[in-house]
Amino acid sequence: MKIGIAADHGGYDLKQTLYQFLLAKGYEIVDFGAHALDTQDDYPDFVIPLGKAIANQEVERGIAVCGSGVGASVVANKIAGVRAALINDHFSAHQGVEDDDLNLLCLGGRITGFMAAQEYVDAFLNAKFSGAERHLRRLQKVHSLEHIV
Ligand code: RB5
Repeated sequence: MKIGIAADHGGYDLKQTLYQFLLAKGYEIVDFGAHALDTQDDYPDFVIPLGKAIANQEVERGIAVCGSGVGASVVANKIAGVRAALINDHFSAHQGVEDDDLNLLCLGGRITGFMAAQEYVDAFLNAKFSGAERHLRRLQKVHSLEHIV
């Protein structure tokens, strides 16, 4: 699976650690930055390119980290085709994929420690969308909003 990752300064350290974690697991990784710690950088500058790559299917899933994970999820959900959520528990990390076809996991680099983040990432990447009719119906209602301007 090809995975995209992105972070601002608030998520930079966790992204770097997760990069090594994913590499060791054999994933193909595209790093959308930041490529160095810059305390003045802005999360949209990294999360938007990652979100576009998910929407264009250049990567299958993504992981975005900012300080809290909030800004990353807010901006990513503006991009049609991206289904992002801030995840702070193991259950939601896999259920978000199974029921809601989550394709972008957002984490708070100042909130979630590496061991917990690693478990959420594993749960997210190993989960599959169920394809159940009720979930498809709900997602259709979500996607219908993407055509409203
Ligand atoms: C940056 O200081 C911080 O605001 C950002 O990383 C993120 O937490 C926003 O939601």
